[in-house]
Amino acid sequence: MEIVEVKDKVFKRFISGHQIKQVVQEIATRIEADYKGQNPLLLAVLNGAFIFAADLMRALTIPCQISFVKYASYVGTKSTEDVKELIGLNEDIKGRHIIVVEDIVDSGITMDHLLRDLKNYNPASVKLACCFLKPEAFIKSFNIDYLGMEIPNDFIVGYGLDYDGYGRNLPEIYKLEN
Ligand code: IMP
Ligand code: MG
Repeated sequence: MEIVEVKDKVFKRFISGHQIKQVVQEIATRIEADYKGQNPLLLAVLNGAFIFAADLMRALTIPCQISFVKYASYVGTKSTEDVKELIGLNEDIKGRHIIVVEDIVDSGITMDHLLRDLKNYNPASVKLACCFLKPEAFIKSFNIDYLGMEIPNDFIVGYGLDYDGYGRNLPEIYKLEN
């Protein structure tokens, strides 16, 4: 589909399922090379990252585990400064090699918050795998170790990303028509 309606807005197809698949495989290949014998713990950020995390984990052929945290800063199509931890860690990550798995970094406020919180648990290492980055919106300074692709500063839905909870099930990425 070229054009979709999600809730009350119109979106245009922007990134194909094929491109997404390639990006996920590239990240998986790099992680496998870096984490041999280290049993990393993927830490996926709910809700948006659930599809990317599932695909990334299936693409990994090294032993690994997954857990979830839930952070939210978005209301509608706007990022806010008010980051909330909605579901926290429920296991000991002390001494573990953590790969935070996120769908998209926009301002970076949410991820900055999460990365700071994680340090308090004394993990052995923390790296970040992220499907999309909006460099024009990014105002923080953390490094994205495994980045899928940079995108313009537009609002997108699909592949786990939502507009007011809708559109996550779209298998491709759609961009808001202005
Ligand atoms: P940040 O704190 O501004 O970096 O926002 C990050 C979070 O906002 C991400 O984890 C997403 O859940 C959500 N988000 C950012 N940009 C978009 C978008 O274009 N579409 C849908 N959700 C987004
Ligand atoms: Mg998210």
